[in-house]
Amino acid sequence: MKTIDITVTRYDPENSPVPYEQTYTIPYDDEMVVLDGLNYIKDHVDGSLSYRWSCRMGVCGSCGMTVNGVPKLTCAVFLKDYPQGVRVGPMDHFPVVRDLVIEMDDFMDKLRAVKPWMIREQEKPVEEGEYLQSPEELQLFRQFSMCINCGLCYAACPVYAADKSFIGPAAIALAHRYDMDSREEGQDQRAEVIGSHEGIWECSFVGECSVVCPKHVDPAAAIQRSKVQLTKDHILGLLWPWGKS
Ligand code: SF4
Ligand code: FES
Repeated sequence: MKTIDITVTRYDPENSPVPYEQTYTIPYDDEMVVLDGLNYIKDHVDGSLSYRWSCRMGVCGSCGMTVNGVPKLTCAVFLKDYPQGVRVGPMDHFPVVRDLVIEMDDFMDKLRAVKPWMIREQEKPVEEGEYLQSPEELQLFRQFSMCINCGLCYAACPVYAADKSFIGPAAIALAHRYDMDSREEGQDQRAEVIGSHEGIWECSFVGECSVVCPKHVDPAAAIQRSKVQLTKDHILGLLWPWGKS
């Protein structure tokens, strides 16, 4: 069987304040993803290695790490694509708890801040039935609803790297998902968040968030579309203070 070197960043703050790297040489075949390699290490070589995962199928969003310098879902990249060896570290721009496990509280707070739920001024009575939506209306936001909250886009974002108050790509894509929903009436409430100093205007449109996104959410597009919409709303608000499009 072929072997591969997997070099992993280790960090154990209780015993050593400085991260270090450890290399494991393990057998592998063409079917094994990077996460399988980590699982092999944990099961057969070093049970102390710490990392997160759950579904192993690109759905739960918990296995994000830095693989040879790039944010990746480790269940979605194959060891055979790194024949020279693979270097695995925790995702950049997040505090590290231990080894490859990161702290995601700030990320989750930002998702919550954009009010990712249906907001309506007045609910219609239940007996009047569902809020119907056409396939065309669904397509307007469907792409932005595919986010699995993996955080890869924050690990790739140079703006978030420089300023942790930036609300960030996934949160803005999530706000856009709701803003584009035909059943939704909370756009003004979200505009207060995404249009703030920490919101869309901080984005310098590097676009790496969309490059690394494993679900093709395209947060960069959501940010630019939101800039256009808020600018339009602002101008219309100046021209017709009593209403906008
Ligand atoms: S937008 Fe993409 S990269 Fe960012 S958290 Fe969602 S799925 Fe992950
Ligand atoms: S283990 Fe769930 S997305 Fe990778």
